[in-house]
Amino acid sequence: MNNLQWRAIIPSGPRYNSSMPPPSPVTALLIGAGQRGADIYGRYARTHPDQIRFVAVAEPDPARRARFATQHHIPPEHQFETWEPLLALPQLADAAFVCTQDEQHTAPALAAMRAGYHVLLEKPMATTAEECIQLVQTSEETGRQLHISHVLRYTPHFVKLREIIQSGALGQVINVDHRENVAWWHMAHSYVRGNWRNRAQSSPMILAKCCHDLDILPWLLDAECESLSSVGGLLHYRAENAPEGAPARCLDGCPVADTCPYYAPFIYIDLLPLWRAIAETGSGIPKLAAQTQTRAPEMVRFLSRFAPDLRLISDYRGWPISVVAHDPTPENLRAALQTGPYGRCVYHCDNDVVDHQVVAMQFSGGQSVTLTMHGHSHFEGRTTRIQGSRAEVQSFFGTGGSWIEVREHRSGKRTRYDTSANLKEGHGGGDQGLMAGFVNSLREGGESARTTARQALKSHLMAFAAEAARVEGKVVRIE
Ligand SMILES: NC(=O)c1ccc[n+]([C@@H]2O[C@H](COP(=O)([O-])OP(=O)(O)OC[C@H]3O[C@@H](n4cnc5c(N)ncnc54)[C@H](O)[C@@H]3O)[C@@H](O)[C@H]2O)c1
Repeated sequence: MNNLQWRAIIPSGPRYNSSMPPPSPVTALLIGAGQRGADIYGRYARTHPDQIRFVAVAEPDPARRARFATQHHIPPEHQFETWEPLLALPQLADAAFVCTQDEQHTAPALAAMRAGYHVLLEKPMATTAEECIQLVQTSEETGRQLHISHVLRYTPHFVKLREIIQSGALGQVINVDHRENVAWWHMAHSYVRGNWRNRAQSSPMILAKCCHDLDILPWLLDAECESLSSVGGLLHYRAENAPEGAPARCLDGCPVADTCPYYAPFIYIDLLPLWRAIAETGSGIPKLAAQTQTRAPEMVRFLSRFAPDLRLISDYRGWPISVVAHDPTPENLRAALQTGPYGRCVYHCDNDVVDHQVVAMQFSGGQSVTLTMHGHSHFEGRTTRIQGSRAEVQSFFGTGGSWIEVREHRSGKRTRYDTSANLKEGHGGGDQGLMAGFVNSLREGGESARTTARQALKSHLMAFAAEAARVEGKVVRIE
């Protein structure tokens, strides 16, 4: 089955009868024009103007605010430094996107729902269980839809995996072994140098990274987690593991600049880890292009004149370099690495989140389920192995591509599905599916919502329980 056929099973856009006039686009405010708000949702609105239009923005960073306002033709009177004055105005739009950092989610999301907006709120919905519950209650009291950005539910990969399990093809499901293999350089970027490195300043990594996985596992099995235990900690990214003589910053004359995998210019200017991952795990043209980029970037640049899709690689400006510098040219990136957080030695940061954690869970259907998360994977990707009484599934969901393989016990038959999404579609197609699903849901009054706050709450409560289990060394029952 090809990608186009796969896309037929996820929402590809609003549904309406062709004899009816097309509905007008949903209107929205953006709170937080950062990587997610501007780069993901903003880009979707620019490429799907029939579905959604941003009419106001709140963002303290003047450059980000101005760029978003220009891209979306937002007049000066609808541009704000922060969300409070924006949400104090009479209602301006159908929806509000809350894309601030983790600990800044609750207040604007509550205010937006109380002001009459439906809300798309980034994950994690909040950093305490109490705030998560308050968000769900407010959504239900105000009757406003609150969607959490659990993008995996909208990926062709996990939709197909769920379909296989629910079809009964595996027989009785006995055990699930799910791994969130965070690539070593992604770990260093987000959880050692970056925004989610410190529990007190953001949230525990099992919440920040794995609320997605804790959401998808019960959804795949149609079962609830009844109890869990957890172990893990921060093993590697610590001062005592620093190479001898390593300075606080990579560019301050590090003696192991040529051999350390975490050397910041290697990750952010050469970008080799990203291209290698796509070259290794991708397929077709993206794989070939990424392979060429690792050896002869000038060739990709030349060919991109005739094949505009190659500019996705030759002129790459996306994550993670878009986080390091607003305008990620090599010169700007080097300047940012000299003074900013992403140029720090990974052994000399103020990080305290774990780099490995295992959660063992008992599910209501009797299944045992483990989630292993770690930040030392060579290639990024979620792997899932499911043992059933009649067949086994193994699957890979990764940066360059995704697949599922079913092996039947009796016949020995192997069936392999390519569940890759277009490389342009972030999170394996999940970002686009989520946006289309949100627009559908607003137009249909919530009927098609797949990521409601009440559904998301369960995964968040599981994450808080897993962190308590790890820190306190206990088994936690999920009520
Ligand atoms: N769904 C996913 O898979 C996924 C992936 C990555 C990040 N996230 C989540 O998305 C959220 C945003 O992450 P990001 O990487 O875009 O962060 P970011 O730092 O790039 O963006 C956050 C923006 O909020 C702005 N902001 C701060 N205070 C504000 C205020 N008072 N009013 C309005 N804006 C304000 C900041 O200036 C910044 O531009 C985080 O909660 C993160 O965990 C989700």
